[in-house]
Amino acid sequence: MKKASKLTFVCQSCGYHTPKWLGRCPDCGQWNSLVEEISQSSANPKALSLPGEPQTLGAISLDPQFRLKTGIAEFDRTLGGGLVPGSMVLIGGDPGIGKSTLVLQVAGGLTASGKLKCLYVSGEESPQQIKLRAQRLAIQSENLYVLTGTCIEHLFERMDALQPHLLIVDSIQTVYSENLPSAPGSVGQVRETASRFMNWAKKTGTPTFLIGHVTKDGAIAGPKVLEHLVDTVLYIEGDSTHVFRILRSVKNRYGSTNEIGVFEMKDAGLEEVGNPSRIFLEERPQEASGSVVIPCLEGSRPVLVEIQALVSHSPLGMPRRTSVGVDHNRLSLLVAVLAKRMGLEMGDQDIFVNVAGGLKVDEPAADLAVVSAMISSFLDKPLDKRMVVFGEVGLAGEIRGVSQPEIRIKEAKKLGFSTCLMPKSNKEVCGAIKGMQLLGVDAIASLMDVLFEST
Ligand code: TYD
Ligand code: MG
Repeated sequence: MKKASKLTFVCQSCGYHTPKWLGRCPDCGQWNSLVEEISQSSANPKALSLPGEPQTLGAISLDPQFRLKTGIAEFDRTLGGGLVPGSMVLIGGDPGIGKSTLVLQVAGGLTASGKLKCLYVSGEESPQQIKLRAQRLAIQSENLYVLTGTCIEHLFERMDALQPHLLIVDSIQTVYSENLPSAPGSVGQVRETASRFMNWAKKTGTPTFLIGHVTKDGAIAGPKVLEHLVDTVLYIEGDSTHVFRILRSVKNRYGSTNEIGVFEMKDAGLEEVGNPSRIFLEERPQEASGSVVIPCLEGSRPVLVEIQALVSHSPLGMPRRTSVGVDHNRLSLLVAVLAKRMGLEMGDQDIFVNVAGGLKVDEPAADLAVVSAMISSFLDKPLDKRMVVFGEVGLAGEIRGVSQPEIRIKEAKKLGFSTCLMPKSNKEVCGAIKGMQLLGVDAIASLMDVLFEST
């Protein structure tokens, strides 16, 4: 690597500049916060463009066909309706979860018509490996170009020469710039290279996918830096031992966040799952205690998932509270509310709560379902298997309404459920729904009266 001429180290928490690296920022006292950058005076002046004329909103025209459809409906929906030209999408996820597979399928879908060119830049795999994967995914495209390389200055020459309609960088942690002496994957490099790809994407109007690795602590290397920079952040979630993969949008400048796409990993790549509720409920035990179904909302889409609880006497002095897919603090809070407002003491019980299928449920509407599952397991009494439960639980034991109850009930009805335990305030708004028995509760103290009523 070339020795960089003008480098400066910038504190990531206060913006302090220093020509030398220091372990601790002398200005704000933060440890390990200095990251190298190319100083502004030596940066390429061409990159700094003048702003255009101010325009009124009315004068800005929108091309109705400005979104590119990738041909994978779940992916398009997660993006908010397709790919926007010039947008930069960061795709994160654990190793082996299917990031490369997904982007290759997207590239295959876009180039299938023969009109669009796609460039797949790989710093991780050889062209042969990519070809093998493409064969497995049955992608045969004359317009899908593969380029292996990691030096961004060289990559830019090729990109400018080819002028692709879609650029994929797999992964951003392998790309480096000659202007920075630090190793590829360091915060400085990731930031610098990502922002140069961003400039390029905006300048040429090319949608760009960056693949980013998730590091041990759960954030993409150069974590928040990249998330702020890019237009859209998608995470692929799921256990690599499970076949389901959930593509979740956590930031989207061109659509709503919290949209999800559900895929199943098969022999021939990721396959879309059109009706996730059915899949998540497929292996649900029928007469077991501690199992409750909740219609939760993922973005604009209702998904039915099963929440399971196991409450059993603990041999330990400090009973365990373990939750998978539900916030741990929320669980502790609900256990405390149960004890105080219902007199249900679970202080000597181990409590395990799990969302089946590997989904994460983080909306407060899950509270009532978690509470119901815990009560059912504690008393070892199964709930009505055709009942769904949703509602938020407050500290005073009140049950609060949640957003969009109609959509939730409709989805439950579609999947054959016949009873819905819900907040009283929501029930009053919904009125009567044919084929669905609605049970409204307004306080946790009266939950027992209705919980086992319909069984
Ligand atoms: P990959 O896309 O390479 O993961 P990442 O880029 O996120 O590290 O895919 C990882 C796994 O997916 C790999 O273990 C094999 C599996 N896989 C399939 O099951 N079917 C397929 O068709 C493909 C291409 C991969
Ligand atoms: Mg990969």
